[in-house]
Amino acid sequence: MTRTRIRDFHDDDLDGIIRLFEAAVPESATAPPLYPLSEVLAACQRNQAVVAVRDEEIVGAAVGRAAHGQGVLVFFHVLEAVRADPEQGTRAEAGLLDALERRLMPLGLGKLSMLIPAGTSACDGLVANGFETRSGLKYVERHLPVQRRELDRLKTVGGRILPRHLWDGVSGMQEEKDTLEDRLVVPLAEPDLADHFGVVPPRAVMLFGPPGTGKTTFAKAVASRLDWPFVEVFPSRLSGEPGGVAAGLRTTFEQINELEHAVVFIDEVEEIASKRGGEPPSPTQGVTNELLKQVGQFRDREGRLLICATNFVRALDAAFLRHGRFDYVIPIGLPDATAREAIWSRYIPEHTIAGVDLEVLVNASDGLTPADIEYAARRASQEALASSLRQQHVDISSRSDVLSTDDYLEALRATRATVSEETAREFGEDVETIARL
Ligand SMILES: Nc1ncnc2c1ncn2[C@@H]1O[C@H](COP(=O)(O)OP(=O)(O)O)[C@@H](O)[C@H]1O
Ligand SMILES: [Mg+2]
Repeated sequence: MTRTRIRDFHDDDLDGIIRLFEAAVPESATAPPLYPLSEVLAACQRNQAVVAVRDEEIVGAAVGRAAHGQGVLVFFHVLEAVRADPEQGTRAEAGLLDALERRLMPLGLGKLSMLIPAGTSACDGLVANGFETRSGLKYVERHLPVQRRELDRLKTVGGRILPRHLWDGVSGMQEEKDTLEDRLVVPLAEPDLADHFGVVPPRAVMLFGPPGTGKTTFAKAVASRLDWPFVEVFPSRLSGEPGGVAAGLRTTFEQINELEHAVVFIDEVEEIASKRGGEPPSPTQGVTNELLKQVGQFRDREGRLLICATNFVRALDAAFLRHGRFDYVIPIGLPDATAREAIWSRYIPEHTIAGVDLEVLVNASDGLTPADIEYAARRASQEALASSLRQQHVDISSRSDVLSTDDYLEALRATRATVSEETAREFGEDVETIARL
């Protein structure tokens, strides 16, 4: 067998490295390699690679990358045929590692390490050459939701990535949460699982309910839960576009269609999709028609979800709510006692809550929306702070004045219920006649 030589990488070796990379990925591998080919090639070109050559063919390579005083091997492989040779195999591995180390040494590295997928051969060679296996480690990774290229597109449409824990921040509302989880989140987050059971992931949904019940909150929570960017479309802001709102909608949706993933949200959609007809036809009719068309086209692509919200679902154009346009028409109603308790708990400071009679507050807030409860709780906090400031200054560590049940009840008396009994009754009717789950 001809001798194997070790030398520095040069640009002509790229093809050889690519072939070696392909040979190194075991056929059984289910996950993509930790360091993709692009990264390996980039490291090669930064002169941090050495190769083993036999008969003009690249039979092995060690590729490193240095940052912050540490060196990482992003690729280390010697062809099986060479490794199996008792004379040359170990020598090629040792030679490669030695040569790479000498290349990286001038960079002042304190350590050289490599992450090795289980079931590959690289480990033996490394251990034989002075590398120690560290036990008790776990490798974790998270793919960031948006790549750089996508960021520019997102900016164009005013989209953003929301914080990751919004879903947990929605207190109570368990029934609604369960519905959204089952119908939206799971099928979209796990399309393979959905497909297994023949569930078609939704493309567009309508949330309806009185103001302040949490429709916007839920739309954002769904985006956060899916780790998809949130893009809110404001039709009223499109009126300045050339061609008016209809043309503006078309352009906006064209831009949104470029995004890989997105939760698109249109709030108060009744403003542009109310019942059509009438003589003379309402001025928003062209806009409604355009929106209908856009929803239809939006449905053609995967990885996106349109959420529309309305306070007046009965005012919507019948064609708008038809099957085939919105997969679900989901009511978001007033919170029940359990939900109210969860919402109170969220807005009452933690060190105060033990001294507050939650049950009294829950009963006293029947008929209030989450937004009303939030308002009352914040008002009570404000009042307590103000009255405390009027008294003597006491150091925070020796303070004994805390918010009481009465403080909250007083704030409740000053809180007007957003939802009148009549609205609540109409909502009940809408749930019976319009909701579709
Ligand atoms: N389940 C909830 N838990 C805690 N706060 C909530 C909840 N739902 C809504 N809120 C609060 O109520 C306010 C109004 O909610 P929003 O989602 O804007 O209602 P809607 O869009 O239905 O009018 C927001 O400040 C939100 O933080
Ligand atoms: Mg809203």
